[in-house]
Amino acid sequence: MDIINHGVFFAIEGIDGSGKTTQSRDLVDSLIKNGFNAVYTMEPSKGYIGTFIKKKIIMNKKVSPEVEALLFAADRFEHIDSEILPLLRKGKIVVSDRYVHASIAYQGAQGIDLEWIESLNYFTIEPDLAIYIDVPPSVGISRKKGKKSVFENLESLSKVRKIYQDLVDKGNLTLINGMKKRDEIGKDLYKLALQTIEEKLRSQT
Ligand code: TYD
Repeated sequence: MDIINHGVFFAIEGIDGSGKTTQSRDLVDSLIKNGFNAVYTMEPSKGYIGTFIKKKIIMNKKVSPEVEALLFAADRFEHIDSEILPLLRKGKIVVSDRYVHASIAYQGAQGIDLEWIESLNYFTIEPDLAIYIDVPPSVGISRKKGKKSVFENLESLSKVRKIYQDLVDKGNLTLINGMKKRDEIGKDLYKLALQTIEEKLRSQT
């Protein structure tokens, strides 16, 4: 089923190793099983700037956090124009694995002024629901096998988590406990997503 008019836009956030990618994909699968047209997407995006960020910045950081904030914002606008908006205009449900709050949390954790990061992202579209999946940084790190990104150490992930938690306290993100079992988190997430979809459908009738 397509959500006529504007689609529904979800952003899923969390520190590295929080399970947000698994949960974003599980959410899309559950929505599809229940008859909705849902699409998974992520940031950094698969576009030109997102690919550059993945290859050059995340694995081998050589730029200032200000430049990171600018690049992530540039990638986001490209992501919105090339993927998110076209899908929403077709009435799809879009699930984005990371979005604006990741810039606030990750670049903010490196001492960048949060309001400046927000201002760079001022003209991005608002998600209908932004979720934060919370796990302690030690758990996030222990879950990640293989190559770690430049952001993944206990001290920096603790700062990232603190900013995410502040955004939850301000009501900008909805909290989900990432320490539960995979399918229980999936159920919590699906319930919140369904509520948002139903509200959106009701507002259209
Ligand atoms: P991540 O979702 O962890 O990628 P993967 O699933 O391939 O591991 O994102 C990669 C890194 O990019 C992650 O450490 C967080 C960082 N990041 C920022 O610092 N700022 C941003 O705005 C975004 C979107 C991501």
